[in-house]
Amino acid sequence: MSRLVIVSNRVAIPTRRGGAEGGLATGLLEALRPHGGLWFGWNGRLAEVIPAAPALETGGDIVFALTPLTRREFEGYYVGFANRCLWPVFHAQLHLMHYDATALGIYLEVSRRWAETLIPLLHPEDVIWVHDYHLIPLGRALREKGVRAPIGFFLHTPFLGVDLLRALPGQTHLIEKLLAYDLIGFQTPLDCQSFYRALGFFLPEAHREPGGIRYAGRLTRVESFPIGINVEEVAHLARSGRNNRHGRRLETSLTGRRLILGIDRLDYSKGLANRFRAYEQLLERWPEFQRRVVLLQIAPLSRTEVPEYDEIRRELNTIVGDIHARYAEYDWLPLRYMTRGFPRSTILGFLRQAEVGFITPLRDGMNLVAKEYVASQDPEAPGVLVLSSLSGAAQELEEALIVNPYDTEQMAAALAQALGMGLEERRARFQAMMERLGRQDIHRWIASFRDALAATTHAVSGD
Ligand code: F6P
Repeated sequence: MSRLVIVSNRVAIPTRRGGAEGGLATGLLEALRPHGGLWFGWNGRLAEVIPAAPALETGGDIVFALTPLTRREFEGYYVGFANRCLWPVFHAQLHLMHYDATALGIYLEVSRRWAETLIPLLHPEDVIWVHDYHLIPLGRALREKGVRAPIGFFLHTPFLGVDLLRALPGQTHLIEKLLAYDLIGFQTPLDCQSFYRALGFFLPEAHREPGGIRYAGRLTRVESFPIGINVEEVAHLARSGRNNRHGRRLETSLTGRRLILGIDRLDYSKGLANRFRAYEQLLERWPEFQRRVVLLQIAPLSRTEVPEYDEIRRELNTIVGDIHARYAEYDWLPLRYMTRGFPRSTILGFLRQAEVGFITPLRDGMNLVAKEYVASQDPEAPGVLVLSSLSGAAQELEEALIVNPYDTEQMAAALAQALGMGLEERRARFQAMMERLGRQDIHRWIASFRDALAATTHAVSGD
């Protein structure tokens, strides 16, 4: 089997205490674990001078090749273009988009530099799998420097409609760069459809053929590969986390109150303001739940260098304060809101303890926490998932209570429905979702992408 080379902005080296944190990182580690390989990306640090060769670290059969960013790269590539421009556009938050031509230039430069740094590490039989919106131009940069290996790209975020992309300066060039890949993977069939529509609009000279898209003498295959989870591992960690020190402390602190739980990075795309407002409406319209429920929202700080993340943080602090001022009692705090993180097994243990998983992003490529909520449940007494219709996961987890994350009344009603749902219905919904999660797990995601990428080598007609 050829060696797998993964390139992503973040590289998460597993710590001794547990796996790498976060969905993307966990998924990529699973991809490399069985046969080893190379994982190239940012070491998370800034340096004044970039060493010519990346630092190599080894973990089992995996070699991690890490490079720092200069401050200019960090501000232009990571903060500026990837997270202040592409991220809000890809999550339909145009009012938060900040375009800066210099940042775009640095974004393109980083891909060119990474291509140069990666090439000396490549073996002739490698297949290369590039991840996410940070690195769209990397495939083209590698091709321009003569790399002929199969190169695939997977977008973890949503790919949205033409109307949004029209607002993104330079969108045609970015789309064209995507066509340097042999395979483009999206999370859902809807994302694929949006991509085809975008091609028709911005790049009509690209031809759709049965095997993919023909453009500039090469064929690019486009498919959806919904990312999954390691179902058995999640269930196992959730069982142990349920009874660890934190799990027991949470249980004791609830004093029999029913737990509604949300877990998200603190990101404006996660819909936390609407989620808190919806919970407030639950307490208002169904006063019988006052004193009987607790919403625990764990939202670890994220991208604190991006100003818009500071704004959402302040907004949430205000909303939480409002809700406390209105409903808190001297012996009951309706909403517990924390911005620190916990080890993975503790989080999964908390999910197992929650009667309702409340996951309502305004947009999300997939949302693996939704899947983890289901897999962490006790099959004998599973909880209920309330899930945003605008997450990729909603296209698979149909038996969740699907809500529009902009409709706070509907979300409040779904919470009330979830809290009132009988055991039989909860079990039936849980079982249906578990079957699907088992069929579309992380191993299937990896194998299907790798197989599809390997198959493109026969279809490529030249660079
Ligand atoms: O899942 C989307 C994603 O942007 C990943 O690519 C990334 O690793 C994760 O969110 C966390 O964001 P960041 O790397 O900016 O901290």
